[in-house]
Amino acid sequence: MANTYEMFSVRVTAVEQATPQIKRFTLARADGLPMPAFTGGSHVIVKMADGLSNAYSLMSDPRDLSHYQIGVRLEEQSKGGSAFMHQQVKVGSELTISTPNNLFALDPKAGRHVMIAGGIGITPFLSQLHELETGAVPYELHYAFRSPEHGAFHAELAEGPHAGKVRFYIDSEERRLDLAALFASLEANDHVYVCGPKPLIDAVIEDAKKAGIADAHVHFEQFAAAPASGGAFTLVLGRSGRELRVEEGMTIIQAIENVKAATVDCLCREGVCGTCETRILEGEVEHFDQYLSDEEKASQQTLMLCVSRARGERLVIDL
Ligand code: FES
Repeated sequence: MANTYEMFSVRVTAVEQATPQIKRFTLARADGLPMPAFTGGSHVIVKMADGLSNAYSLMSDPRDLSHYQIGVRLEEQSKGGSAFMHQQVKVGSELTISTPNNLFALDPKAGRHVMIAGGIGITPFLSQLHELETGAVPYELHYAFRSPEHGAFHAELAEGPHAGKVRFYIDSEERRLDLAALFASLEANDHVYVCGPKPLIDAVIEDAKKAGIADAHVHFEQFAAAPASGGAFTLVLGRSGRELRVEEGMTIIQAIENVKAATVDCLCREGVCGTCETRILEGEVEHFDQYLSDEEKASQQTLMLCVSRARGERLVIDL
């Protein structure tokens, strides 16, 4: 049931402009203690002023707990979080962050890891690359971006210990990733990982299916609130029997908060943290979250109030 996180304070110790739209922030505990341990692909939730919070992948070395690093892209459609990070957060600023959680770990059963990054989607792979340095499991990283100036951390990857394992695809130079050709070359026990914009994730999932790659071998992550698309429906709070209308373009959590029908923990508001997980009593939902596994989604036992929507006209939840 609903996840809980320990939150703690960190101080920003460095800020670098990696590309015109991406900044790298280094965070360390104000009390000087080591950061909580994490594995490659983990994320933290960063809480900002005005109730804003976003999930960001940890991109630093999991073996070095003196600090964390996150990369933040200034989003044009920002809820406000990325603009706050870019405009207000400086060296010395204090932030509250959650302990790490990993929804995008390297699969220990994989014979080879084939990683595909688009733009800011490079960040979880950077922490995973540190774990792969032992060379115990073969790997390769395919990194696509718009133009040379948008290739965040390109130089580090091109010159660092992974140089021979990374291939770059640059739209403006017409160097594009051919997914069909890549997937045709995979072995049965290879696993594919993708992080980046939704069209890239959708293309990888679709082309992997066409190539006959098992769903369990395809892993993806994207931190962005699903649009509150879909028709209006009636939401019933099972404990009180209270009925609310969730209009088109509105999320369940907004409908609840608009009329103060209940108090719900809702940390990330983008289907990542699991704090708003709630039991379904009647009806089925379209999930849209990153938190539940495919099996959990199919079982229709719980939903995330921040992104899920009713499949039918009426949904009863345990609230
Ligand atoms: S608030 Fe994080 S999953 Fe809903």
